[in-house]
Amino acid sequence: MTRMNAAVVTSFAEPPRYQPFDVPQPRGDGEALVDVLAAGLHPRVRSGASGAHYTSTGTLPMIPGIDAVGRRPDGRLIYFAAADDVIGTMADKALASPRRSVELPQDADPAQIAAVMNPAMSSWVALRRRARLQPGQSVLVLGATGNAGAMAVQVARLLGAGRVVGAGRDPGRLRALTAATAAGAGADDIVQLTADAGTTGRALGAAAAETDIVLDYLWGLPAQQAIAALLTARSDRSRPLDWVQIGAVAGATIELPSAALRSASLRLQGSGQGAVGAADYLAELPSLVSEISAGRITVKANPVPLAHVEQAWTRPEAPGERTVLIP
Ligand SMILES: NC(=O)c1ccc[n+]([C@@H]2O[C@H](COP(=O)([O-])OP(=O)(O)OC[C@H]3O[C@@H](n4cnc5c(N)ncnc54)[C@H](OP(=O)(O)O)[C@@H]3O)[C@@H](O)[C@H]2O)c1
Repeated sequence: MTRMNAAVVTSFAEPPRYQPFDVPQPRGDGEALVDVLAAGLHPRVRSGASGAHYTSTGTLPMIPGIDAVGRRPDGRLIYFAAADDVIGTMADKALASPRRSVELPQDADPAQIAAVMNPAMSSWVALRRRARLQPGQSVLVLGATGNAGAMAVQVARLLGAGRVVGAGRDPGRLRALTAATAAGAGADDIVQLTADAGTTGRALGAAAAETDIVLDYLWGLPAQQAIAALLTARSDRSRPLDWVQIGAVAGATIELPSAALRSASLRLQGSGQGAVGAADYLAELPSLVSEISAGRITVKANPVPLAHVEQAWTRPEAPGERTVLIP
């Protein structure tokens, strides 16, 4: 069996190391061995490599990486998602199946696509496959200062939202969300989430009480307080409020009073692997690729050689950047 270089996790308590690994073998069903050109170091990749993600089977050793841009043996450039949690994409070569890949334009920038697809897909799929945004509806992004949240503002606009409000902690990143508002790509209003629940609740109520859809990247206490604040301030509580749970950077659980579900039309659902099937993800990829290729959904890609994966893993990510590993 031939060998390749890969990021390899041998303990869930340690970062991956760059070392030789067996080249994976295609298992039929159109699967192909592709040259990996760029793989994003997303929060989801870190949680998989620590064994903490809900899809993790706990198998070691494993190669992290949930997606990548690669080149097929026939020369075609593709974006693809990894088949399982054991043989990922952070390696010289990876397995790509037609059921989990989409062809890219030949002039696509592999690092940029690898950086953007995962965070952009979170809101794109949530608004297209879960809450099903109608033109003109209003959207609140809870956790809009992270990469996925900032892109969610752009995505909501692109998909026809009439009003978009971004809420998050970092004031600088919040202000940046409004920079593109005049051009129709930014937030109409921003709300700073602070430790003062009363002030934050009033600000959320003033800016977003009439929102139709919440894209929630936070969960935990900020989401718990935001649900109460929005429902309290809403003028017509029987009008549906679609809450889409996407990320949990602020906590894995919330306390939800039963009255919140009886006194208002609060519709709670999640969006992620499992809640959305592989075929539905695949169906959304071509239109998402065309928006990204046109530069309408962006993040600053920070390319790092795969050989430096161990250092990249422990280095804090600069705000607004996404590390991309290049074999
Ligand atoms: N379900 C899906 O389909 C899907 C897809 C992609 C990502 N996700 C999830 O979405 C989440 C965000 O991903 P990302 O790529 O945007 O990560 P990211 O770029 O690392 O952003 C995370 C942001 O969370 C903010 N944050 C952390 N703790 C917070 C708290 N207690 N209160 C408020 N804000 C807090 C930080 O902003 P500040 O600087 O303001 O503190 C940080 O910028 C992750 O949980 C990820 O796994 C889900």
